[in-house]
Amino acid sequence: MWIAIAATFCLLASEFASLQFRQQRPAAESAETPVGSIHPPASEIPIPRQIWQIFFPPPGVKTLDKGSTYASDWVSMAPGYGYAVLGNEEAAAFVDGSFASRPEIAATFHALKNPALKSDFLRYLLLWHRGGTYSDIDTRPLVPLEDWVPAGKRREIGLVVGLEWDAARDGHYADPWTPDVQFCQWTIAAAPNHPVLARMVNYTIAALSYVARQQGRTLDQADFSDFQILNSTGPLAWTDVVSESIRERDPQVSGFRDFLGLRSPRYIGDIVVLPVEKFRAEFADEWGLNIWRKNRRALVRHYYNGGWKRDD
Ligand SMILES: *[C@@H]1O[C@H](CO)[C@@H](O)[C@H](O)[C@H]1NC(C)=O
Ligand SMILES: *[C@@H]1O[C@H](CO)[C@@H](O)[C@H](O)[C@H]1NC(C)=O
Repeated sequence: MWIAIAATFCLLASEFASLQFRQQRPAAESAETPVGSIHPPASEIPIPRQIWQIFFPPPGVKTLDKGSTYASDWVSMAPGYGYAVLGNEEAAAFVDGSFASRPEIAATFHALKNPALKSDFLRYLLLWHRGGTYSDIDTRPLVPLEDWVPAGKRREIGLVVGLEWDAARDGHYADPWTPDVQFCQWTIAAAPNHPVLARMVNYTIAALSYVARQQGRTLDQADFSDFQILNSTGPLAWTDVVSESIRERDPQVSGFRDFLGLRSPRYIGDIVVLPVEKFRAEFADEWGLNIWRKNRRALVRHYYNGGWKRDD
């Protein structure tokens, strides 16, 4: 329910500028690139070795407190990966330069004023167009990215999604909107052009314009409630799209309820669904010290610095 965008950022402008779009190209054939059967070559894996993060400074904040992000953890947990943080300008350049044949995409993006909506939409566009691993700026990886999907599955998997909410483990959420199972969208890994992301981009554009139409306004004038954010670009929308996509691929899955109480990764075609503790370290043994809980080791910890979306 909590989307991290940005929060308690305060430091030097120069540091923000240098971190804001630090792009490292993957070292294609260099000695740093993991090779061998454990780390298949880039040409053999659908999900590119690229990490994306987004930082839209809240109003009045010009600088990013480097100490409040985990950029160095992402880089050190992912040798040979590209790493990029997109701010407002980089985001606009990416969107304007990437979807010439679909003018409604850039039009939608530029009409969005709310940073939560923008950040949500941008992550789907990045993953759809470029692929890689997206994770919110206030998340920290706990396990090397090469180990998120078992080596034997790397050549097949095109989408890694985790549960954000599992009522069988978490209990029922206090707010009336949260379904019993919700898919997480603060961390997602995807192959470029993955059909679930293509569908999510379309769903999001339609859902945003639906809210604006209901208000008799243009999108740039529309006002989004908390629920409307969750339901048009946020986890409710993502949960809808992911569970529909899975249901179509596997007729035995009737919907998101089939993932209640998920204990180990479930594979559906090229999609893997991870149990709730994988991206929510508070449910797991973060350090992997307890051998009996080894398979419950978390991949990512989310610090929820962003606070509630509308306040960002
Ligand atoms: C998304 O919308 C575009 C433009 O309307 C369409 O061409 C494309 O087939 C749609 N993709 C999916 C996955 O629905
Ligand atoms: C949530 O969004 C979907 C897709 O736009 C829409 O069909 C549905 O009516 C929305 N739910 C509510 C309660 O507004």
